[in-house]
Amino acid sequence: MPGIFRENLLRGKVALLTGGGSGICRRIAERFAEQGAKVALVGRTQSKLDDAAGAIRATGGEAVGFAADVRDYAALERAMQQTREQFGEIDILLCGAAGNFPAAALGMSANGFKAVIDIDLLGTFNTCRAAYEHLRKPGASVVAISATHAFRPIAWQSHVCAGKAGVDILIKTLAIEWGPQVRLNIVTPGPVADTEGMRRLSPTEEIKQRLTDSIPLKRFATKDEIADLALFLCSDSAQYITGAVFVCDGGSSLGGGMAAVWQVPDLPTST
Ligand code: COA
Repeated sequence: MPGIFRENLLRGKVALLTGGGSGICRRIAERFAEQGAKVALVGRTQSKLDDAAGAIRATGGEAVGFAADVRDYAALERAMQQTREQFGEIDILLCGAAGNFPAAALGMSANGFKAVIDIDLLGTFNTCRAAYEHLRKPGASVVAISATHAFRPIAWQSHVCAGKAGVDILIKTLAIEWGPQVRLNIVTPGPVADTEGMRRLSPTEEIKQRLTDSIPLKRFATKDEIADLALFLCSDSAQYITGAVFVCDGGSSLGGGMAAVWQVPDLPTST
């Protein structure tokens, strides 16, 4: 079958994913492995990585976990080297490690702000920079997981907004510097169900419902929907796409302007 509808889209490929031990990136790792990739999971906690890699192996995939904090360049370099020794050159790099907590700018220290910038922005730079020499070139594909925060200011999220805006422009810049050897793209989720991030940002049923009501498609994304988009971007079907942002947010970042205030669906229709 042609294009994206083929089975085993990533047969023979090697993928390294930061943040792959949990949440959205664990699901992406599972999807990549289902499609034939050998996957290396990188994160801070070895036990989480072992759990995620074990689950993939239990379903017949190839997976291994290497602990490294994306803020620690030397540790990342070691994880890349271990991946290469185990599986060979890296075809796919997914930068997914991220930090978040809700706090007003006046309620957070400079170190709190820096912690998120260091994980999200510097961590993405470190991951791409350390991976470059291990990527199979030409043909390598990099996907960074961003957020609608990158282009939409959100109160209590100044650190994440600044970090993700940085991630987007960093990836676009690298797409210029590293083409045609490496393609780099950005996946931008809005609210995603059953993730640590959303547990922190919508801690009560009432907040969750208000957020759901504000989304044009009236629900959160599933992790599978984000994984499918990342899969497409890393597949041969996306060979002419680089430096692009792919928003998968059910329309949540469209905002709705006055429509949201007027609650348009409740207005009587005019004839
Ligand atoms: N409100 C305000 N400040 C906070 C905070 C909160 N809820 N949580 C952490 N901080 C501050 C700390 O106070 C500290 O600043 P200080 O030294 O001035 O006190 C700073 O952040 C670093 O904290 P530390 O515990 O040393 O952090 P860390 O390096 O382990 O990173 C997180 C902290 C919260 C960024 C990180 O653990 C994290 O993001 N965890 C959640 C993962 C997650 O949700 N992932 C999904 C992302 S969408």
